[in-house]
Parts: sequence; C-alpha cells; structure tokens
Amino acid sequence: MKSVLEFRARKGRAPISMISAHTHWEARLLADSPVDCVLVGDSVSTVIDGEATTFAATPEIVARHVAAVSRGLGDFSSRKLLVGDFPFLAARKGTAAAVDVAALLLRAGAHAVKIEGVDGHADVIAHLVESGVPVMGHLGLTPQTVHALGGYKVQGRDTAAAADILRQARALEAAGVFGIVLECVPEALAREITAAVGVPTIGIGAGAGCDGQVLVMTDLLGLSPGPAPRFVRHFADAGEAARSALAAFHAAVGERSFPSARESYGSGAKE
Ligand code: KIV
Repeated sequence: MKSVLEFRARKGRAPISMISAHTHWEARLLADSPVDCVLVGDSVSTVIDGEATTFAATPEIVARHVAAVSRGLGDFSSRKLLVGDFPFLAARKGTAAAVDVAALLLRAGAHAVKIEGVDGHADVIAHLVESGVPVMGHLGLTPQTVHALGGYKVQGRDTAAAADILRQARALEAAGVFGIVLECVPEALAREITAAVGVPTIGIGAGAGCDGQVLVMTDLLGLSPGPAPRFVRHFADAGEAARSALAAFHAAVGERSFPSARESYGSGAKE
C-alpha cells in the first residue's frame, strides 16, 4: 500500500496490516514483506531507548528514525505508506509549531503523521489536513496521557467512557483524519466505532472488529523483554533464536572453533 488513498479505500474490503518499527534493519525486513504500512511510533522511546514512557521522544528523535526506516523501505516509487508519530505535546503548542513538526517528519520521509487525542487540538489536525498533510488519529489508551489516565489501562469500559471515545472518533473524522488507531478498548466499542466512522480503524488491543491491526515489530518477533500485554501475539521467537546464537558464539570462541580457516584470511594476494 503506497498512499492514504489506498488506505481509505480498504475500509470494508480487506483488513490492513500495520507495523510500528523504528530501525533500518526492521524496515529492510518490512520492505520484503506483504505488510501494508509502517508507523514510526513514539514507542521508539520505550522500545529502543528503554524509557518507561514515550515522553522522551522528541520530534527530532522521531524524525531521525523516520529517515532510517524510510531508507530501509526503498525508493520512492516502491515504498510502503509510512506514518510518523507526533511525539509528546507536539500537537499542543499551536498550529504553527505543529506545522513545523509535520514538515520535519515529512521531510524525513513520512507520508503522513499520527496524532494522539483530539480534544483541544482538532483545529491543529484540520489545519494540517487542509495543508496537505494526511493525519491519522489515535484514541483509547493514548500513552502520551498515561498520567491523566492513571496508568496503562483499558479505556472505555463503562458506558459514559465508551460514548466519549465514540464522540472523539467522530470529531477526528470531522477534522479530516484518514484513519484512527484504537488502542486498548473493549472489542464491542471498537466494532461500534468502526461502524460509525467512514475511515479505517486500526486496532491494538481492540479486538478483531477493526479495519486493520498494528503491532510493534519487536513484540511480534518475540524480541521485547519482560511479560507481554494480553493483546501481543509472538509470531516468532526471535529472542530465543538470538540468545542461542549468542551462547553458540561464546562457546565457539571458547573452544577456538571460531573463526575457522575459511573464515580467516590467508597471506596470498588473492585470498
Ligand atoms: O508508538 C507506537 O508504536 C504506537 C502504536 C503502538 C500504535 O503508537
């Protein structure tokens, strides 16, 4: 999938697969995969830098990782849709500041940006969209407001909270977003929002009723340390493969079986 037009057209047709990734090596793997689109999330802060929250991600940090992923995805004509995340408070400093952040991310190679929440910055989202910057929304568990939410918890469990998230989804659609990430909301609410809005919803911890799903690449590969949240499926155990490779390397060095003669250079000119 190369554009937001293709993204929107998939609603009600075929589910959209999206991966949040941050590095050039992940992008090289994604380029060779059928995965539809890629997000460089502000999860760079937790996944790559080991922070407890996403607050440490700045526009410059996200842009640097967007550039690395963009290079890994290949040339312009063959590239997948690439979304860059607006980090902590970047949409809250007014329209001009948001335009600067969007310019940074699109110049680094993103085709679109993702912005958490809508209340208080719907005008910023609308201005970006009117300026030709496609915007993806993000509702439910929005990690940038984790302290206001009282922790990393499922959102929209009671009737009033569910109605409020539905209201926000409608506000995002009115502001012109091309898609909405729904994070950690009950499956029934995600289905209701998906039916209520005309743009694709992408779920993470939101059940199977969304128009697509997103996972963080290191979670999917089984590379993330510690216990995984309920919504994560390890589609591979690359962590275990890496641990046994490291143990095998250490043993081979210890017994001097690495490097072999074939892995060493001779003194002849052509060797
Ligand atoms: O930052 C991120 O990776 C995200 C996805 C998990 C949706 O926002």
